[in-house]
Amino acid sequence: MLKYVSNKGGGLPVDFETAILDGFASDGGLYVPEKLPHIPLNKLEEWRHMGYKDLAFEILSLFIDRSIISSAELKTILEKAYRTFEKKDVILLHKLESRKDTYIMELFYGPTISFKDIGLAFLVNLFDFFLQRKNEFRSVIVATTGDTGPATASYIAGKPTLDAWVLYPKGLITEEQERQMTTIPNRNVHPVGVHNCPEGGDDLDAVISKLYANKSFKDKVKLSSVNSINWGRVMMQTVHYFYGYFQIADVIGEEINIAVPSGGFGNLCAGGLARKMGLPVKNYIIANNKNACLHRIFSKGVFSKEDIHETVSSAIDILTPFNFWRFLFFCVDGNSKKIKQWVDDFEKTGSAHFDKETFDAYSKGFMSFSVSDEQTLKTIKKIYDAENYLLDPHGAVALTTVDILEEKLKDYKLICMETAHPSKFPKTIKKALSVKTLPKAALHKSVEFAKKQCQRGYTCDYSHLEEALLDAMNSNWELSKEDK
Ligand SMILES: Cc1ncc(COP(=O)(O)O)c(C=O)c1O
Repeated sequence: MLKYVSNKGGGLPVDFETAILDGFASDGGLYVPEKLPHIPLNKLEEWRHMGYKDLAFEILSLFIDRSIISSAELKTILEKAYRTFEKKDVILLHKLESRKDTYIMELFYGPTISFKDIGLAFLVNLFDFFLQRKNEFRSVIVATTGDTGPATASYIAGKPTLDAWVLYPKGLITEEQERQMTTIPNRNVHPVGVHNCPEGGDDLDAVISKLYANKSFKDKVKLSSVNSINWGRVMMQTVHYFYGYFQIADVIGEEINIAVPSGGFGNLCAGGLARKMGLPVKNYIIANNKNACLHRIFSKGVFSKEDIHETVSSAIDILTPFNFWRFLFFCVDGNSKKIKQWVDDFEKTGSAHFDKETFDAYSKGFMSFSVSDEQTLKTIKKIYDAENYLLDPHGAVALTTVDILEEKLKDYKLICMETAHPSKFPKTIKKALSVKTLPKAALHKSVEFAKKQCQRGYTCDYSHLEEALLDAMNSNWELSKEDK
């Protein structure tokens, strides 16, 4: 049976179900499969014409033991997860006219119109499946920079097996993103807007870690997380890399480039692992905004934290790309002692420095850059003027990075990930296009619907967040324990 271990080496190996329901490993590390499956080219050939869900079934089956989830059960979970998506095959690839061999991967066809819907649709339904089978309950807590929150809240709403506590930095996400989480009427969804977060969304992760470390509280309210610390998110996100590749490759084995707007490195960790499993990707282009946390790792070999900058691509205003630690595990032959040492260094001193051998091992096949708001806005306008196609600010960060690195990228086909729908960022779109009225492409029914609903939820100051959450979650538990 395929087991899951902590990337920091502590605790015992666990099965897939435990890895999913626990979120974090017992030593605070991230779960990784003991070994990665390898997919030979002839298998890729076999899969190339599959629809998204069938392909997902094949890929996920490599990570999930049949004794834990049968084929029929996995198919049902996938069916349930994606039935509310606007497109049967979950995502679409749009070929740009004004740029050679460039395909925008539109990842926003789920109910809350960002790529977070793709991982969370599956993961929440998987939680629900396990919990119904065990007759158990979990309180799920997540921190969000604007997109994980709405997706988590929307999937958990109304599920008797789950409560969602969604923490967001008040004022640092868009009004539209906030409305998507705070207009859900179900009582098992608890949005918490946090004032005065000194480091944006990253501070919220620190509080979640403290709650996890409080064992009696964690056990009492049955705490878990569906942030991309959860292996289920990363595993599910490997699928869109394979699916996208099949849509644009002329022959299996042909290499392509893929550009990804990045913050926490969850999406790119999945991409990196897909390549290690056999997907022919020449370069991954890591697109950072001014918060250049990944660019520092991939250009200088330093994992470090600097002051937060507020940017127009606010969902990637992230300082600590924690999923890099998960990817690194696979680049150092699973040497968890080394990972633990680097994580400890970072936590104690604020930075970890990688030796040349390690840097070469993890950075091969990755290029990175950190782009300014000005450049991002220009890209939105350039593509809109050229072909009436509207990028969101995050997709625009990715395409800008590609433009900057163009000379080094050679003549490979390119997928550029569009991770959210532009309607979530109307102020930025107006600024980029210098218009007062939004074009039709910047409107979406999900956002329009949320505008007409009442908002609800908690607010709290960051300085009291831990105690306030302990209190609110405890009271909620006591009040609703009969239902659990
Ligand atoms: C729209 C959007 N793009 C990109 C990202 C970055 O993804 P990741 O944290 O997996 O790098 C996020 C979330 O963090 C997001 O919401």
